[in-house]
Amino acid sequence: MAETVSERLAAVWARTDRIFEMLVPGAFLARPIALRHPFIFYVGHLPAFAWNHICAGVLGRPSFNAGFDELFSRGIDPDVDDPTHCHAHPEVPESWPPLNEVLAYRDRVRATMLDSVDAVSERAPTHLMAREERVFSMVIEHELMHQETLLYMLQELSYDQKIRPAWLPRDVPGRERLPATVSAATVIVPAGVATLGVASDDLAFGWDNEFQTSRVLVPAFRMDETPVTNGQFLGFVEDGGYGRRELWNDDDWEWSRAEKLTSPTVWANGKGRRLYRGLFELLPLERVMDWPVYVSLAEARAYARWRGLRLPTEPEFHRAAFGDPTGAERAFPWGVTAPGERHGNFDFRCWSPVPVGAYPEGASAWGIYDLVGNGWEWTETAFAAFPGFEAWILGYEGYSADFFDGKHFVLKGASWATAAGLVRRSFRNWFQAHYPYVFAKFRCVVSP
Ligand SMILES: [Fe+2]
Repeated sequence: MAETVSERLAAVWARTDRIFEMLVPGAFLARPIALRHPFIFYVGHLPAFAWNHICAGVLGRPSFNAGFDELFSRGIDPDVDDPTHCHAHPEVPESWPPLNEVLAYRDRVRATMLDSVDAVSERAPTHLMAREERVFSMVIEHELMHQETLLYMLQELSYDQKIRPAWLPRDVPGRERLPATVSAATVIVPAGVATLGVASDDLAFGWDNEFQTSRVLVPAFRMDETPVTNGQFLGFVEDGGYGRRELWNDDDWEWSRAEKLTSPTVWANGKGRRLYRGLFELLPLERVMDWPVYVSLAEARAYARWRGLRLPTEPEFHRAAFGDPTGAERAFPWGVTAPGERHGNFDFRCWSPVPVGAYPEGASAWGIYDLVGNGWEWTETAFAAFPGFEAWILGYEGYSADFFDGKHFVLKGASWATAAGLVRRSFRNWFQAHYPYVFAKFRCVVSP
């Protein structure tokens, strides 16, 4: 089962290429999310990141296209952005190079990477990132995370600018077949210890923010058995939730007013009926009532307040997902088995959300469903360093530290567009409270 670096690279590139093939030719310059670069940037960014870290960084090779290495090095907008970007960024160009030049750059970087595997392992004695294929793992995980970024950008793109690929499942596999257990039930999680983070010796590669471990005593709480669905959220919308000032934090209210929000960004209105913007087609909202609702943290908070509840903290999520009644902690909610297709909706299997509770074998020890898969899960914990954090652990500074600003919040778990390779207990995602494009769901908790 263990794959070589070349096989891992080939697999990740194949999926990236399939995702870009979903764009019509003229759409590479489209910018469906104003705060992000057009798609063409990402065609160049993935190889530029690889070149800068593997070929320039570890191997010290001279550049064959320094202009592209710099132009495509980092994304824009430090303020409302995703974790795959850093604060320092090049100027936004007035025009982009032709697509064929960017593709040629990508191909040359890819070929050089494949030829560099042995040279990198020879540097292992002197270079931390050359050990255990670490720099390759970083480049691969970076690309995997961007596949998800690209897909939520595609989600925002108008239907005439994208093509539904023939290989995409016509109907979400198992959508009808799997036994959905939508419920409004809540589950008690007794007080206990949650171990956050991971020790450097326990993970061949991890991002700086995953290290080191800390043990947190979590008081007992009660948690929703399943994530909040579109159907449940409709109750909040129809009760005037978006117009009720008392349900919203001050800055959340200001943002939602400025954006004129009246329902989740992924919903739409058409001829007097509510619709859901699927990746390639509009669906009647009635058809997806038991899917988890994807919303911003601000909207999730307002919903929780409407129900007289709150959102979980990062330690509470850990306790719910990984704790067990004996006091032990599991690698995954379902136990120690590597993440597989029966455990949850992740790893690009469905290319869509599915009904909540559709993966009973993925439930945690407490019988809580969908903690990993079917959408990232918002927590109320501001993204911050664990004790023992070291900014240089990846061989370069600044991956996470710039986002320890109190404005970004931790999300845990995985979405349908999260690769299985990123499904690990210590993995943390983070976004601002007012970023509504992520495949992110939520559930509520209450202290008993
Ligand atoms: Fe990036």
